[in-house]
Amino acid sequence: MKNLTIENMANFCKQYGFIYQGSEIYNGLANTWDYGPLGTRLKNNFKDAWRKRFVQERPNSYEIDASILMNPKVWEASGHVTSFYDPKIDCKHCKTRFRADTFINATTNGKVNAETMTFEEMQNFIRDNHLKCPVCGHEDFTDVRKFSQMFETYRGTVDDKKTVIYLRPENAQGEYVNYLNVLRTTRSKLPFSIAQVGKAFRNEVTPGNFTFRTIEFEQMEFQTFCEPGKDIELYEYFKEYAKKFFMDLGLPEEKLRFHNHEKLAFYAKAACDIEYKFPFGFGELNGTHDRTDYDLSRHQQYSKQKMEYVDPMTNKKFIPYIVESSIGVDRGVLALLFEAYHEEKLGDGTTREVMKFHPYLAPYKVTVLPLVKKRHSEIALSIYKKLSKYFMTSYDDSGSIGKRYRRSDIAGTPFAITIDDNTINNKTVTLRDRDTMRQIILNIDEITTFVGDRVTF
Ligand code: GAP
Repeated sequence: MKNLTIENMANFCKQYGFIYQGSEIYNGLANTWDYGPLGTRLKNNFKDAWRKRFVQERPNSYEIDASILMNPKVWEASGHVTSFYDPKIDCKHCKTRFRADTFINATTNGKVNAETMTFEEMQNFIRDNHLKCPVCGHEDFTDVRKFSQMFETYRGTVDDKKTVIYLRPENAQGEYVNYLNVLRTTRSKLPFSIAQVGKAFRNEVTPGNFTFRTIEFEQMEFQTFCEPGKDIELYEYFKEYAKKFFMDLGLPEEKLRFHNHEKLAFYAKAACDIEYKFPFGFGELNGTHDRTDYDLSRHQQYSKQKMEYVDPMTNKKFIPYIVESSIGVDRGVLALLFEAYHEEKLGDGTTREVMKFHPYLAPYKVTVLPLVKKRHSEIALSIYKKLSKYFMTSYDDSGSIGKRYRRSDIAGTPFAITIDDNTINNKTVTLRDRDTMRQIILNIDEITTFVGDRVTF
């Protein structure tokens, strides 16, 4: 199997309808991506798998869908307006902009970790070690400065009275400002969790690596509210829970690792990433954070609403601690795409490309292939119609059966059923398994149960 680069994967995704460049007919908008028919199904199935694992299978877990645009005070209270920035540095010669910390890490091949350096330390390091701009080779940089990651937009009907509002840079605050509502309407007791899947926006200094780091992306966030003192145990628990989630979907343990943060985000007491080994190196898929009572205390202070919880057993009053598990949807999908991709030499000397997705993630579960269009279409269409009530089903009647198998392999469809004279005469179909390519004969009535039993998570 060839070692796919990130560029190979971007081309593959574009060619087969997983992911396209955003606004492509206008030469694109850098670092925006549009999911095509296969990519959208894959992404939705990934989100559904998360919902199943994190919401459906967990007692006291509730999903919400909060607005992206929020009162700007939310972002003052959360600390993002003052503290959510990257250290940027510009090459004065060619005007390329870098993140100073990643520039140092990359230039020293990871021997120096700039994560914990202050702005001044980074600046001195770059100057004293004569680091050169990787684009033009000059050694002439601006000072290291703050670069806000918050995207601003404006609200107002009269031009000169517009208020600045922000596109949310994380979903989490939507869960925090609804903490009291969810607590009241679900009559929950601690610990309980609020989940949310949705878009977030960040003005990244150095986006790139296809969908890995973009300015618009989706997060699946899970906030568990607990009594202070119970946070450490939950923090450790959710690190493992998220790792198991990825492994159950097909990411192998040897390509996953924990990375404990030395330098913590302004809201966290402890933070650990799960990283996956992409072709460009290990990259973060998930962050588990012990956010203490930081967020709810700040919202209490700024909104003047009491965020205290009263323990019904002890009458003890406290502001709950929050343990957060946050997964980037786009990064997860990218890892799943890399892991699924296989190139296999076949007995006849040809090679097949096949996406071996976990069947639950596969965009289509089954494809219906009439052997001879004229002769078998009618019964094939009736089977397609029946299966479509249960699963995402595709239908392909063009080209040789071999070519159609190849197309369904590339889409990652776990099962292909061929409709032929036996279907008309004996009510049977030939079902081919994507991974083994083995074929079995099934009665028409057995297809739904056979497929249904094998595409669960
Ligand atoms: N609420 C916590 C939070 O936002 P984070 O570690 O900054 O924490 C969580 O982000 C996840 O979101 C990351 O693990 C990553 O998968 C994803 N993510 C963050 N920035 C991203 C970007 N620019 N592009 C794509 N995904 C991103």
